[in-house]
Amino acid sequence: MERTIGSSLRKQKTGNLELVEVIDLDGRKFPPRLKSLLKKIGEAADEFGVNVYLVGGLPRDILLGQPNLDVDIVVEGDGIAFAKQFSRQERGEVKPHKQFQTAIVVLPRGFKIDVATARTERYEKPGALPTVEVSGIKDDLYRRDFTINSIAIQLNRRCYGKVIDYFGGHQDLKAGIIRVLHQLSFVDDPMRTIRAVRFEQRYGFNIEQKTERLLREAIQAGLLDKVSSERIGKEITLILKEKDPLPAVKRLSELGILGAIHPQLRADRQTEVLFFELGKIFSSTAVPRHLHRWVLYLLALLYPLSPEVRKQVAERLALSKKVRDCVSKLETVEEKIRLLDDPSLKPSRVYFSLRNLPTEVLLLMAARAKPISNRIFLYLEKLKTARTEISGEELKQIGIPSGPIFQKILDMVLAARLDGEVDSKQEELKLAEEIWREANR
Ligand code: CTP
Repeated sequence: MERTIGSSLRKQKTGNLELVEVIDLDGRKFPPRLKSLLKKIGEAADEFGVNVYLVGGLPRDILLGQPNLDVDIVVEGDGIAFAKQFSRQERGEVKPHKQFQTAIVVLPRGFKIDVATARTERYEKPGALPTVEVSGIKDDLYRRDFTINSIAIQLNRRCYGKVIDYFGGHQDLKAGIIRVLHQLSFVDDPMRTIRAVRFEQRYGFNIEQKTERLLREAIQAGLLDKVSSERIGKEITLILKEKDPLPAVKRLSELGILGAIHPQLRADRQTEVLFFELGKIFSSTAVPRHLHRWVLYLLALLYPLSPEVRKQVAERLALSKKVRDCVSKLETVEEKIRLLDDPSLKPSRVYFSLRNLPTEVLLLMAARAKPISNRIFLYLEKLKTARTEISGEELKQIGIPSGPIFQKILDMVLAARLDGEVDSKQEELKLAEEIWREANR
């Protein structure tokens, strides 16, 4: 990974000998649109008379030289009022969230800015949403998950690019370490156990020793049980959406996090093989662009489990109906694989045995059983879109009364077409008539 940290650092000494780092944001490699937006935010904050800071993932990724377009800012002062002012100035739209003192600004060119009022959070009990109090930037950074995510970059003109780093985040970025800010971080929010793994594996970092101990303790204490299914599902989805999710999934398993989600959930050798095969399939041309790869990885993770356990995990992750449908169809996979394993199987049989399965399940089958994968691709690339030239309209014209028989006849004609037995509209019509006559004999 490219390490650009420090390349454009200018270190200043202030009166009290505090080391302040100012980075040259203009010189950094990120989109000019984003650069000019950050400048504008700083200028607007000067006009408005507040301090404004870039926080969260973007400062981390700017320092790492990684792409990121998520603009989260914290305002020392009235965040909502600033958001409204900035949005007016830029002709955007603002959605304030009074309870949390936050707002979302959507700009005409598509940028979305999350604006927050600097705040501290108090967690009354693990897994619950915190109570919030207005504060300064230091407290705001202290409530965050890891040191690498507690770095701010000031945007006001006079301090443009000033790195605010109270907790050693920049040093941990350089050393490649994921470290909590305090002992109770995982107790405050047990979801951070999963986040720790996501960042560790994404950047090739290491969870620091004491942090790992705290993480394991939080898992052993059952803190994940207190978190809502929606939140767990969201974090697991984010893990599966990472570029190469296998190492993260293995790490979740090793740390006992998968086991805390469901005692039978784990990443074993079979998971590893399936993930690996899926990776190969994704580089093939047959994969539709809009396909949600994370769903396939999820199916691979659930595949070794029994249908009942799959259902329980799907509930614990609050999966959508569409994804749950894919999960339930896993039940038929082994039987279909056996069926497709017959080399003499006609294309029409392939078609009719696969046509009710979502593409995600089909691709999982291809990853699971390489010898039949060519059949699956034949289906996806050719058979799936095959149609008869005749339709119900033509059947009516040749005197067949409409009803469920239509579909039956059309399916039989389609089968003949797929197997190369008919090749023109004429031949299809002739066959339809024969089938109809046969049925009425
Ligand atoms: N955060 C936190 N605890 C959480 C979630 C978020 O402290 N459970 C803080 C972190 O400072 C984090 C910021 O909120 O950097 C923004 O969170 P989010 O957008 O979820 O993550 P990013 O760090 O931006 O990561 P990604 O690159 O995956 O978007």
